[in-house]
Amino acid sequence: MTESRLVLVTGAGGYIGSVLTRLLLEHGYAVRAIDRFFFGRDTLPPDDERLTTVEADIRELDEGAFAGVYGVIDLAALSNDPAGELDPEVTWSVNHRGRARAARLARRARVARYILPSSCSVYGFQDEMLDETSAIHPLTTYAKANRKAEEDILPLADGDFCVTVIRQATVYGASHRMRFDLAINGMVKGFRESGKIPILRDGTQWRPFVHVRDTSRAMLRLLEASPAAISGEIFNVGSDDQNVQIMPLARLVAESVGRPFDYEWYGSPDHRSYRVSFAKLRDRLDFQCEWSPADGAAEVHEAIEAGEVDPEDPRTITVGWYKRLLSDGVEI
Ligand SMILES: NC(=O)c1ccc[n+]([C@@H]2O[C@H](COP(=O)([O-])OP(=O)(O)OC[C@H]3O[C@@H](n4cnc5c(N)ncnc54)[C@H](O)[C@@H]3O)[C@@H](O)[C@H]2O)c1
Repeated sequence: MTESRLVLVTGAGGYIGSVLTRLLLEHGYAVRAIDRFFFGRDTLPPDDERLTTVEADIRELDEGAFAGVYGVIDLAALSNDPAGELDPEVTWSVNHRGRARAARLARRARVARYILPSSCSVYGFQDEMLDETSAIHPLTTYAKANRKAEEDILPLADGDFCVTVIRQATVYGASHRMRFDLAINGMVKGFRESGKIPILRDGTQWRPFVHVRDTSRAMLRLLEASPAAISGEIFNVGSDDQNVQIMPLARLVAESVGRPFDYEWYGSPDHRSYRVSFAKLRDRLDFQCEWSPADGAAEVHEAIEAGEVDPEDPRTITVGWYKRLLSDGVEI
């Protein structure tokens, strides 16, 4: 039997990481899971001999952490706009400098592949359909730090070190570290609680979405693709038909949950609207998403019904949980 290829996943205990880690194990990889486990350690499978978990800060890794590693998927970050504004200097130190440093260490340790999971939020909000060549307008600390990480890491690509950036759409679906601060998941939670879907005014804004298993599948595909097709490249990750306006999305969510549609407004009018092309991922890697927002909403609803995820768990609202950790004296 050949030895499993080892993939180092940072942020492996997180919303995407806990799904990605399972997918990698299912596909025969061994995983070194590195995380500070701010959301708990129980998000990863308890007994798989191919999984090693290491409680560590990505800012403090040394070259030894990358020994024997085939590929790195560098998910660790303060993972949304509000969390990124809690202490911008910390966000820069983790999301930008921490990941750029990890990429340099990986290259020095002769790791073959490195994937940076960035975000479509680097585009800011623009009217035309955006692709990987479009101008970018990162607006928040979170988006700016993602962009700087892309800028520092992409040029590390060479014949021995395959580097790929993915710009993920807003993710949805059930995970072992659940997040209800993501649009579709939050709609399901709010609808179940009040019978009304919370909608950010005025519901005409467009946003791109992707299921958590589909973005994980895209990362797996990149681990296995020919370096010539992907190295030094940026790929938007999502699906053209999952650019959705918020009001029709809310109707879909209500249908998936199986209750009569009703909604309530929240927030001030949101003029931030954008649509993204995912043609490069589809055409170059023959990648298709398998999940739709309706499937994801139904999945989240069923996971709550089955008691697999707890909508009252304070850890499911990322910024609220980080605030609580900070007030308890935890250094982020
Ligand atoms: N979820 C989305 O909609 C989405 C969309 C686009 C991009 N992304 C990006 O994907 C990545 C993963 O997002 P997620 O939704 O899984 O977030 P998450 O918050 O669930 O996971 C991030 C993980 O990183 C860990 N972490 C934070 N700081 C760390 C540090 N200094 N050292 C080690 N571990 C640390 C946390 O404990 C957590 O487990 C992030 O980079 C995020 O910006 C997510």
